[in-house]
Amino acid sequence: MDLINALEGLASELRKELDQASLFSQEKLEELRVDFLGRKGRLAQIMSKLSSLSPEERPAVGQKANTVKQECSRLFDACKQAIEARREAAAVAGFDPSLPGRTPWQGSLHPDTLVMEEVCGIFRGLGFDIAQGPEVEIDHYNFEALNMPPEHPARDMQDTLYVTDTVLMRTHTSPVQVRTMLARRPPVAVVVPGKVYRRDSDLTHTPMFHQIEGLMVDRGISMAHLCGMLTAFVRAVFGPATEVRFRQSFFPFTEPSAEVDISCFLCGGKGHGHGEPCRVCKGTGWVEILGCGMVDPAVFAAVDYPSDVTGFAFGMGVERIAMLKYGIGDLRMFFENDVRFLSQFA
Ligand code: DAH
Repeated sequence: MDLINALEGLASELRKELDQASLFSQEKLEELRVDFLGRKGRLAQIMSKLSSLSPEERPAVGQKANTVKQECSRLFDACKQAIEARREAAAVAGFDPSLPGRTPWQGSLHPDTLVMEEVCGIFRGLGFDIAQGPEVEIDHYNFEALNMPPEHPARDMQDTLYVTDTVLMRTHTSPVQVRTMLARRPPVAVVVPGKVYRRDSDLTHTPMFHQIEGLMVDRGISMAHLCGMLTAFVRAVFGPATEVRFRQSFFPFTEPSAEVDISCFLCGGKGHGHGEPCRVCKGTGWVEILGCGMVDPAVFAAVDYPSDVTGFAFGMGVERIAMLKYGIGDLRMFFENDVRFLSQFA
């Protein structure tokens, strides 16, 4: 008879369901119990068809239903006890498998890494390659070939960490300009992210920090290319409404040279807010973000480039960009590895 079969099926199905039941939570077991034996459960659904049977058939089905119900109840009780026993044993052993799992710690990229990836990504989009060079550098590439002869003040022991008389920790990423041009003929377009070192340690200086260098050389490269590329870059990082100012400056390896200022993103270039001078731009409305210029012919001569090429170069401090972009007030935070700081960049 159909209903008898259905009832027998119910019991064997339950046995299967409860196979691993000692690993269940009591809540899950209770859900299962309601599903099988509850008021609208599977047993009740089978029994609701009892009325369609003839009076002669009913007693046998009713009897079967009772035994199935008893058997199911017994199975549930046994499971309940097994789960409880397991929990107690685990508690004694100091481990409770019914506790929720621990969420694994998820790391985040360092703000220096975020800025280097973003900046290099923008320049890749403008057609630049990524280049790298050694942090332990020879004097010739760090200074001499960049138009800084031996008596140049930038070589002062105050600034440079020397390894030997002619080997030093690079003080900027500019030597990679030299290495790149020695290795490749023009046209060249590279950006160079990396660590640099200086004998400096106070509130606003750390002995190691990061720079990104840029170099583009070809026939016909002009200051207009420099202005266009750097303006596009600045607006990609700080927003399309950012104003850019090229202010005349000096670097030994570029001529002419400029520093790039952007309109202050805190006060919007107004120089003040709430009647106070702006704390980011100190009331000027502008913040400096990088140095740049047209590559000095003396640098091309040092790498034996033909005299008819021109090019531009630029260099920026990664921590400086990150401080401006994320509103970080203290340079030391970059290197203290405090997770309360680092986890904010997740
Ligand atoms: N090397 C310079 C520094 O460390 C930054 C710099 C300025 C790089 C102008 C350049 C440049 O390539 O054109 O302060």
